[in-house]
Amino acid sequence: MAEELLAEERQGEATLVEAQSDLSNGKKLYLESYGCQMNFSDSEIVASIMTKAGYQTTRNSDEADVVLINTCSIRDNAEQRVRNRLTQFQKDKRNNPDKVIGILGCMAERLKSQLLEEEQLVDLVAGPDAYRELPGLVSEVESGQKAVNVLLSREETYAEIAPVRLDSNGISAFISIMRGCDNMCSFCVVPFTRGRERSRDPESIVAEAKDLFDKGYREVTLLGQNVDSYRWNENKKGEIIDPAKETVNFAQLLEKVALVHPDLRIRFSTSHPKDMTDEVLHTMAKYENICEYIHLPVQSGNSDVLKRMNRGYTREWYFNRIEAINRIMPNCGISTDIIAGFCGETEEEHKDTLSLMEELRYDFAYMFYYSERPKTLAARKYEDSVSLEDKKRRLNEIIDLQMVHSLESNKRAVGKTHKVLIEGFSKRSKEQYCGRNTQNVMIVFPKTEHKPGDYVHVKVTDCTSATLIGEVIDA
Ligand code: SAH
Ligand code: SF4
Ligand code: F3S
Repeated sequence: MAEELLAEERQGEATLVEAQSDLSNGKKLYLESYGCQMNFSDSEIVASIMTKAGYQTTRNSDEADVVLINTCSIRDNAEQRVRNRLTQFQKDKRNNPDKVIGILGCMAERLKSQLLEEEQLVDLVAGPDAYRELPGLVSEVESGQKAVNVLLSREETYAEIAPVRLDSNGISAFISIMRGCDNMCSFCVVPFTRGRERSRDPESIVAEAKDLFDKGYREVTLLGQNVDSYRWNENKKGEIIDPAKETVNFAQLLEKVALVHPDLRIRFSTSHPKDMTDEVLHTMAKYENICEYIHLPVQSGNSDVLKRMNRGYTREWYFNRIEAINRIMPNCGISTDIIAGFCGETEEEHKDTLSLMEELRYDFAYMFYYSERPKTLAARKYEDSVSLEDKKRRLNEIIDLQMVHSLESNKRAVGKTHKVLIEGFSKRSKEQYCGRNTQNVMIVFPKTEHKPGDYVHVKVTDCTSATLIGEVIDA
């Protein structure tokens, strides 16, 4: 189940963060994050807002005056983990009754005041578009009131807030380029928790990338739930909003960020198969510093299932998009997300997912079994008919196959030389560096005189299904 664990790591890892404040109010904030990269990126905005209000962050929840948990609702187990954590914090609160415990993010938005009023697990609830109000909400709690703000916005992008980089290696950073999602995939809770899709001002994105480069960062990942529908100054019908301003689509934004500096690597996530254009692929091919790696979630290999999922494409369309990637960038790394056991999925339909995988041989995949989410289209329209036993078995078949493909993909990299951005020491040893190649595969190699942030050429000599092992061949 190694791959499933990996998936859960990305979707559910808790991270503790620390940041300093210039104008201290003497109070300490403990911030813990779950869920997707966008949530981690949001936590950096929260840290920025709170440190401006005078808080100093701490990694020790015991000494915190305010505990904020930024949460995820994507699957039921993600929510269960947060509930357990909140119960723990409530126990700790017995020693310090003045401590404020708040919930942020997608679970806050989905459950609104339920965790505060009915379950009494928290003192404060703030949805993803309410973070500017956090200092005020904490003050309300301190004066004995209940504090809830779960209003979703059509405009909020936190564009001008400079995120406080948390738990950063100083080399790679996330930049949110849009918020929300208008897609309504039938299984997905995100449109309910994040609200309508909106794009962030390209100037502020480019400025943030420049600032990061000046501070020594060498890689940025542009984040959105569907980056291909990024559109600045253009409405959904393609009409220009303000004729005095330029219009910018995702391919054009990529180009602007790529031009910040040739030594700044650009990555992005997530692409949507129905919207990914050849223009984006050509822009990727044109700039060496835009990484040759695309995460293109397929979810299922069967067109009927895709229709029930409301994904907006068929198996054939997806194959066409992969063909375009391979044609325009023959060395592009490709990864995916797959859901096993969606409503009504038959054994035949499941086999279509396996056969799609066999044909495409992904380099990497995040794999899940379907978890019904309240209020979604699927929950209202379709029966969650596949038994847990079958879901787990199908997921295991998918994981086993992907393990074979990941190992195969890594074996192909052995014997070749890769340009690697050094991110820091490997997890295991201070004698080893680690960094990624353009295809996003982690490579571990013996430390040299180079520093994190340097590019080196690494010859790969060996591999596991998750990592490449090599040595620097630069002079
Ligand atoms: N915006 C991204 C995905 C965000 S959620 C996209 O459209 O690709 C990340 C992944 O979680 C999804 O790709 C999907 O594979 C999985 N996921 C979402 N809802 C789920 C659910 N109800 N049950 C199981 N997996 C789910
Ligand atoms: Fe969810 Fe679909 Fe939007 Fe992705 S594109 S966040 S899966 S609704
Ligand atoms: Fe989870 Fe919300 Fe992200 S539901 S995956 S934290 S957008």
